[in-house]
Amino acid sequence: QIYENADAACQTVANAITDLINERNAAGKPTVLGLATGSTPVRLYRELIRRHQQEGLSFANVITFNLDEYYGLAGDHPESYRKFMQDQLFDHVDLKPENTHVPDGLVDRDAVFQSCKEYEAAIADAGGIDIQILGIGRTGHIGFNEPGSGPETLTRLVTLDNLTRRDAARDFLGEENVPRHAITMGVGTILAAHQLFLLAWGEGKASIMAQTVEGEQTETIPATFLQQHDNCTFCIDRSAASQL
Ligand code: GLP
Repeated sequence: QIYENADAACQTVANAITDLINERNAAGKPTVLGLATGSTPVRLYRELIRRHQQEGLSFANVITFNLDEYYGLAGDHPESYRKFMQDQLFDHVDLKPENTHVPDGLVDRDAVFQSCKEYEAAIADAGGIDIQILGIGRTGHIGFNEPGSGPETLTRLVTLDNLTRRDAARDFLGEENVPRHAITMGVGTILAAHQLFLLAWGEGKASIMAQTVEGEQTETIPATFLQQHDNCTFCIDRSAASQL
């Protein structure tokens, strides 16, 4: 779906989330959201906060799982994804802190495998992810599933691509400060969600969006595996759609 601008796209996604939360709340059941970081979903989170504050949308029965976290960063590090989520969404709505999950960036090397297995188990225990929000990196990554990630990959420790680290350099005040590894849900974890929304704005995403939507499925561009999903919507603005 191509939108005039990012705000219009975010309205559609916020509507889908709102409808699901209200439906589940009425049935006394939790809603499980998969969340993403990066600049792209910030407007969506702003709209959800507005609906919470002005329209009474309640997150009291919402459980969240974030896609990824930089390995080696504490949750209160200014560039950690835990901190990002607290600042951009969690601290402004009535989510229960124990219902928010972001991979632990400080887990010991020898405990990483177990920790990733537990992350997968927690998603399964919650009943699976109802709606997963995704951004896209210029390497075609979703979460931090860099080129080489297959469709069956699960939550694991990964090495970041050079382009991804270069793109993050500004936030970290220099490429040398960008972590080399991250913990990310796998492509398989993402494909297991019931409904997916991938968001992309601006010309910088135009080339990768064209390859993602129109290209062959390939590990070289992990986002192409989203073509396998039967309920995945690419919500993009005109600029991001300019090479389709
Ligand atoms: C990071 C995140 C991704 C995100 C990507 C794009 O690499 N791990 O989840 O999609 O950045 O970021 P932005 O939305 O700022 O373009």
